[in-house]
Amino acid sequence: MAKVATAAKPKARQASSLEPLIERLNSFSADNYWDLGKFLVERVIPTALKEGIFGEHVLKRMADVPGFKFPHHMLRQCQMFYTYYPEIRNRPLPEMFYFELATKVDDTKKRDSYERMAINHKWTISDLHRKIREDELSRREDERTKFGFDLKERNLWSFDIPDPRFGKAGYKGRLPGQIVANALFYYSSPGAVVVDPMAGSGTTGDIIETVKYLSDRKCKMYDLEPSDARIGRANILQTGIPEQSGTVDYVFLDPPADFYPRGDASDFSPAAARAETMMKFKTVAREGARILKQGGRMSVIVETSTGSFGVIDFPFEVSILMKELGLTIIGKVYLPRRTEIAKVRAQTDGLRPMSSDCRELLTFEKS
Ligand SMILES: C[S@@+](CC[C@H](N)C(=O)[O-])C[C@H]1O[C@@H](n2cnc3c(N)ncnc32)[C@H](O)[C@@H]1O
Repeated sequence: MAKVATAAKPKARQASSLEPLIERLNSFSADNYWDLGKFLVERVIPTALKEGIFGEHVLKRMADVPGFKFPHHMLRQCQMFYTYYPEIRNRPLPEMFYFELATKVDDTKKRDSYERMAINHKWTISDLHRKIREDELSRREDERTKFGFDLKERNLWSFDIPDPRFGKAGYKGRLPGQIVANALFYYSSPGAVVVDPMAGSGTTGDIIETVKYLSDRKCKMYDLEPSDARIGRANILQTGIPEQSGTVDYVFLDPPADFYPRGDASDFSPAAARAETMMKFKTVAREGARILKQGGRMSVIVETSTGSFGVIDFPFEVSILMKELGLTIIGKVYLPRRTEIAKVRAQTDGLRPMSSDCRELLTFEKS
């Protein structure tokens, strides 16, 4: 049994009446979760309450004691186990079934239903585990699709196949529409006026027209070479974005590949290339900032350039630029390119310097 360390303990801890209970806690075997939970609920938590230590803090404090053998999450599981099943001895299934239920299923009715299924179908503990896991996965899948597109929950948005409903197949530089849908979901509010000044194949418009959840956004699109009648003709670099100042809630900027240095000319100068790219970003970003309302947001897709010249960290440079324009960064998402493109590049590039295969979606807010 692990002993509680006595050396170099903070004074406050020495004075605590919880100290003697720690040794008892350490004496529980790992199979004895229910007994441990009972001890926590009946002895430890009431003692801590008398000392003015509440809720989660009690268990965290226990787990922080040097030499204490149970991590915080395990104490929490044991506490839940006893709280949900104080009469465990009268239950028909082995204890571990109830530990699984108490720690994996929040809802009482659902726990009871799993218990009935386990009895009726003579499940093993692995059957119960699998069923709970499958149900959880399908619940998440339902969550993801209930909005009508592939909603991402973390900041890595990788889509192997562009959603065919959004944008025009074969259009050079077309984004997987799922990226724009996620951006609209996270960064624009219901009823927002959305402007895509480099709309390409009209992906943003298609999403707002197709995805019911986002259909209350009002979309305006522009491009140098409009690909359909919904897109207005405009050269943003020369004449700016044809919208009034302070009238737009959300700008989505997906600049073309030719914004970036190519780095293959013999007289290539990284400093000049960097300055040229940043000049273009500055022009479109200034325009974006101009048309945004206070509190409005602008997302921009931007990529680090890498090559024999080294690295130009454009996401960093664009973040500085936006700050200068009075915009604060509120989001950073990684956008790996589609895997089949990455594979072809790897095969053809041989030993040439590593190239970039991940763009970033940076989002800024006008304060
Ligand atoms: C990467 S594509 C946008 C793709 C779009 N997001 C889609 O999913 O189809 C960039 C677009 O910017 C447009 N473009 C390039 N320079 C421009 C300029 N100066 N003003 C307006 N649009 C420009 C190009 O015609 C191209 O359609």
